[in-house]
Amino acid sequence: MNGRLIVFEGVEGCGKTSQIQLCQEWLKSLGVSVVVTREPGGTALGLDLRRLLLEVENKKIADTTELLLYAADRSQHVEEELKPNLEKGNIILCDRYTDSTIAYQGYGRGLDINLIKQLNAIATGGLESDLTLWLDVDIEVGLSRKRAHSDIADRIELEAIAFHRRVQQGYSQLQASQDKIVRIDASLNKEAVQKMIQTTLSDRLKAWDYIISPESTL
Ligand SMILES: Nc1ncnc2c1ncn2[C@@H]1O[C@H](COP(=O)(O)OP(=O)(O)O)[C@@H](O)[C@H]1O
Ligand SMILES: [Mg+2]
Repeated sequence: MNGRLIVFEGVEGCGKTSQIQLCQEWLKSLGVSVVVTREPGGTALGLDLRRLLLEVENKKIADTTELLLYAADRSQHVEEELKPNLEKGNIILCDRYTDSTIAYQGYGRGLDINLIKQLNAIATGGLESDLTLWLDVDIEVGLSRKRAHSDIADRIELEAIAFHRRVQQGYSQLQASQDKIVRIDASLNKEAVQKMIQTTLSDRLKAWDYIISPESTL
């Protein structure tokens, strides 16, 4: 497999979707074959699972059920979307992946982290990201960004502040223990955050022999 999997992680409203879109435009302008996808919901089946997982009416999802639904989404996504695109040599920008499950279902819900790692291994068949960008912002800032732009909050956004705080601690601990997780200060404006991401990605894409000019588009 010649492509690379770049994952964007972080709490609600940290800017994953915005930054992925800006990255996609930038990489396209450089002639890099880039594909954007997300979890949950990166496949047709996954869209149904995403709806089940995020709709507010679904108050009765047991923690383990939630964990397994995310794993089912991931397994389908790996087979149907990630592996084929890596085989084609594409750069994949993926909105959430295995670390989200560790942060939300592990640190957030309190499920056993070693079991989650085993489940992640089953769901992914061992496919790991090549680089993970953790967009780090205070949870209050992230949640208020979301609320400023939408009246509708999903089931996870509506969790208590304490839950989001545990998730944030989870990301922090994951980043401290893994070199491939790069922390990006996501508290700055969108353009400044994008510039930092482009700096990190330029270095990686050069190291991976993707032909890319070092200039940023910003
Ligand atoms: N750096 C930023 N500063 C201010 N607002 C931002 C920033 N990044 C994103 N936003 C806004 O915050 C909201 C959430 O951003 P989004 O990219 O959807 O985050 P995520 O996908 O991580 O939840 C959007 O309305 C977006 O326009
Ligand atoms: Mg998003």
